Amino acid sequence: MSETVAFPQDRTCPYHPPAAYEPLRAGRPLSRVTLFDGRSVWVVTGHAEARALLADARLSSDRDRASFPTPTKRFKGLQRRRTALLGVDDPVHNTQRRMLIPSFTLKRTAALRPRIQETVDRLIDAMVANGPQAELVSAFALPVPSMVICALLGVPYEDHEFFEEQSRRLLRGPELSDVETARDRINGYLADLIERKRAEPGEGLLDELVARRLERGETDVEELVSLAAILLIAGHETTANMISLGTFTLLRHPEQLAELRADPALLPAAVEELMRFLSIADGMLRVATEDIEVAGTVIRADDGVVFSTSVINRDDAVFAEPDVLDWHRPARHHLGFGFGIHQCLGQNLARAEMEIALGTLFERLPGLRLAQEPERIPFKPGDTIQGMLELPVAW
Ligand code: HEM
Repeated sequence: MSETVAFPQDRTCPYHPPAAYEPLRAGRPLSRVTLFDGRSVWVVTGHAEARALLADARLSSDRDRASFPTPTKRFKGLQRRRTALLGVDDPVHNTQRRMLIPSFTLKRTAALRPRIQETVDRLIDAMVANGPQAELVSAFALPVPSMVICALLGVPYEDHEFFEEQSRRLLRGPELSDVETARDRINGYLADLIERKRAEPGEGLLDELVARRLERGETDVEELVSLAAILLIAGHETTANMISLGTFTLLRHPEQLAELRADPALLPAAVEELMRFLSIADGMLRVATEDIEVAGTVIRADDGVVFSTSVINRDDAVFAEPDVLDWHRPARHHLGFGFGIHQCLGQNLARAEMEIALGTLFERLPGLRLAQEPERIPFKPGDTIQGMLELPVAW
């Protein structure tokens, strides 16, 4: 019975849902899973039900609520601290989101494309100069989004090793103390940066927020630090994983890759399908604030709810032959960027980065291949954003 399935679990293959989630597929649209601390919560696995519930204000994202579910020991360190956007409900959420929306429109993102292309080109030039092999995560997949989000926010890229290390600890640190220290360090760094920007304004989004919101008393330093932290972390970790895992997946699907190479106009559809297929953010969290009836069941107030994106995005009622990677299907209604009020703020930017990074990589390095047996290449554990730990490639 699905009663006994533990959540989250490690994937067996980096681009498929964990084999251990099989009972969850069978139990669609809703099952029970057990978290690491023994707590039993609901897991939503049906696409229609997930959309309805993610749009339902009776499910809260407020991590301060005592009954908010804890997916990992590490996550406890992130609770009871102010988490902007992702960790708050309306009306606070709406006020914070409205401050940022103008910087993430399609138009603003389109204007960033030349800069993204330039970053991608420079990184590939360096790979070629040092080639013919590389470790793709550190040489390409991580620096692309990291450089882009730094430029957008106005965070000096020279400090990237510091915040990449802190966000790695934050998302994967083995101990609770790692997570808390990393969080304090990032927050301290951003608070200093904001003070420097007050004295000496620069060009980025943080500078704009300091000038337009902070100085007018519409926000405070604590809130701004929390907003900057979530943008910085969400802005590079997720996209980096899509680039590394996307590359691995394409190299493991030579027919689809050949088709994509022959017709680059397929790229936007390919990115959308990869978002569906890979579902790297697998386990969005909520808690019910009232009883909610769904699919003939009642989710009770204070029940924990997780959304298994990898299972939802393979719902065969919505995606025919869901385990097949196929650019020709309509995939844009996948839930890889979430849904409802918390739907990914950076999705336009992420799409642009993925299209440019993957398109240019395969165009410029036609002989790109894995430099190690695929089974031996390490990938991330199930309790974090999914992706490759390393990706040795040659061309
Ligand atoms: C392919 C890369 C990305 C993936 C897979 C991804 C995925 C997600 C998902 C699933 C959510 C919803 C979480 C929830 O409802 O609990 C989310 C929210 C969010 N994402 Fe992304 N994201 C990506 C890239 C980015 C980028 C590049 C940025 C910033 C520049 C960003 C910023 C955010 C923010 C700020 C939120 C919270 C929005 C809110 O609560 O209103 N993301 N993302």
